[in-house]
Amino acid sequence: MGDIKKLAVLVSGNGSNLQSIIDSINIGEINANISLVISNIETAFALTRAKQENLNSAFLNHKNFSSRESFDQALSELLIKHEVDLIVLAGFMRILSNSFIEKFNRKIINIHPSLLPKYPGLNTHEKVINNKDKFHGVTIHLVDEGLDSGPIIAQARFKATKYKDIDGLITKVHSIEHKLYPMIIKMIVEGEINLNELNGKNFKCYDS
Ligand code: GRF
Repeated sequence: MGDIKKLAVLVSGNGSNLQSIIDSINIGEINANISLVISNIETAFALTRAKQENLNSAFLNHKNFSSRESFDQALSELLIKHEVDLIVLAGFMRILSNSFIEKFNRKIINIHPSLLPKYPGLNTHEKVINNKDKFHGVTIHLVDEGLDSGPIIAQARFKATKYKDIDGLITKVHSIEHKLYPMIIKMIVEGEINLNELNGKNFKCYDS
């Protein structure tokens, strides 16, 4: 894998993970730049964060496109124009088409609030509470054609039984995410993690 210098962060919401990556770049931990922040939601606070940091940002409204492929084509043109090396999904609430994923093969990563392969998709915290799970956590993975199914890069877990409600779990998950995502991106940028060599088996595990 060549040098990773230019990141794009794709968002749809609050952007607290985006902020943690920005902060990590600003203190010199991650030696790369965010070339572009893209949101499919105009009111996403993540876009405000990008503007506050004077980052290039774009709002790409999926409702203006007749198909997933045409939206992804526009997305892909933006990413190519900015010569992006790594696409970081941070609360981006869109499923990407197979052709998009093939085009950026092993260049897209995602953070997901569960211990994958447990609980892909939405409402992970509710499921942990309802199933009285002992552990909960965060997964960072390569994005492939499936839903939250790509090879795992890293996982951090904690004792879920210490938390009685969903809000407690969410706060804990976020606090882990904000450390884990910048840390793993730093490792990818520095070549300590090679996305081309990942097989999803010997991923990094952390206990929090
Ligand atoms: C995070 O919990 C992440 O795991 C999930 O979406 C949430 C995004 O939060 N994919 P934020 O927008 O980064 O605050």
